[in-house]
Amino acid sequence: MKDKIRLGIIGCGGIARNRHITGLTLLKRAGIDNFEVTACCDVVDDNVQAVAAHARDQQGANPQIYHDWEELVCKAPVDAVDICLPHGLHHLVGISCLEAGLHVLIEKPYTVSMKTGRALAEAADRAGRILATAVPHRRMPGQRAVHWALNNAKLIGEVRTFFQNYTQWRPQVAPAQLSPAMKWRYDRIMGGGAGVIDSGFHFLDTIRYFYGEPEQVYAEVRAYRDGEAPVVRDGIATERENTVMSIFTFKSGVVGTWCWSFAVAGKETRDCVISGSEGSIEDTNYSNRYVVYHQFMGGGELRRRDGTYLSMEELQAKHRQAIGPEGVQRLFPNGVTDHFAIEIWDFLDAIQNNRKPEVDGWDGLATLALVEAMYESSWSGRAIKVADVLSGEAPSHWQQAIDAYWDAHQPPHLTRG
Ligand SMILES: NC(=O)c1ccc[n+]([C@@H]2O[C@H](COP(=O)([O-])OP(=O)(O)OC[C@H]3O[C@@H](n4cnc5c(N)ncnc54)[C@H](O)[C@@H]3O)[C@@H](O)[C@H]2O)c1
Repeated sequence: MKDKIRLGIIGCGGIARNRHITGLTLLKRAGIDNFEVTACCDVVDDNVQAVAAHARDQQGANPQIYHDWEELVCKAPVDAVDICLPHGLHHLVGISCLEAGLHVLIEKPYTVSMKTGRALAEAADRAGRILATAVPHRRMPGQRAVHWALNNAKLIGEVRTFFQNYTQWRPQVAPAQLSPAMKWRYDRIMGGGAGVIDSGFHFLDTIRYFYGEPEQVYAEVRAYRDGEAPVVRDGIATERENTVMSIFTFKSGVVGTWCWSFAVAGKETRDCVISGSEGSIEDTNYSNRYVVYHQFMGGGELRRRDGTYLSMEELQAKHRQAIGPEGVQRLFPNGVTDHFAIEIWDFLDAIQNNRKPEVDGWDGLATLALVEAMYESSWSGRAIKVADVLSGEAPSHWQQAIDAYWDAHQPPHLTRG
């Protein structure tokens, strides 16, 4: 490998343009200069041009432009790729890239089924290349501090429960009103579901980060539509859910609920609290409706029964003091606190130092198992053991049609010229 990691960006839509390329710029500005964007690809020319222009401004050199990702893999001067494509293409493109010898950063939600996700993680192991799952929220100062408070400093004693509950009325978007760019999110093969797998992947990664490995989940996943019968159980396979009631148990003894609806009117409820034997930590970022998925992005309050009170700012200061300058540098390299920048830095650093990234493919698969356990639980009307989803022993009603499609559309075997 050259002294700089040559990076290709595949998929130059919203997240690549708004967050990844900005994250890369923040790294350069902070003096982290171990990479160069040498290629980018999108089927939409405006999108790839926008990312290429941003990369050129950032580094003063033009990346190569591709409209066909297979051509990029075969011809582009790259060591690694950042895949920001619709979820259904993550494993397809990821496996081809790994087999061709490239390191891969894959956007959340990792993949759309356990079978495709397992194949992706195995491809990385076979190829001996780095595969990282891009989950940004655990890298934010808020989640880092809460993780430390729960697991290291034990500021709320023995952690016992969490309630992550939120209701709000939002008008439903009819499929005919969707912009073409949004259509893939409503396609089960490309999207794999709605809130549970998409933004929900962030929340499910966070609870694994905070509480360790989950044991089982019981979930009711529903789609309510005005004037229509609610869609429940197996019907949910073809509809986008807007209502979830779920209860999780963890091997650590923690039990928690994740309950939300964007289809109920009247009084709005907000309740995002982690509690333990000595106190609680509340996420008070209630004005942001995404609090239901993205924990501790804003304010928070820690209260102990001995009368101690800490604001989120005070908790973060205590965390930094406890881990010292070396710990701070490890979590926030060169002072960077942007969560997208840090996830990309972690990927690049893992390549350079041949180490495991914080969230690799197998970790991404473990979070996906929670997604799939929730859908499967709702379909079958019973609690699902997460280990059975991971081992493939749980029935897979939800995933059958997704797997049937991807079985028939295998990743192409590509070689680099
Ligand atoms: N981490 C986060 O907070 C976060 C937020 C938003 C999206 N994402 C993830 O990023 C991924 C992309 O989401 P997005 O919001 O940018 O979607 P998007 O629809 O805006 O972008 C997807 C891009 O992929 C391109 N594309 C589609 N098929 C292609 C193909 N075969 N070859 C080349 N280009 C192709 C599209 O033209 C589009 O530009 C998703 O997996 C999504 O979950 C993550």
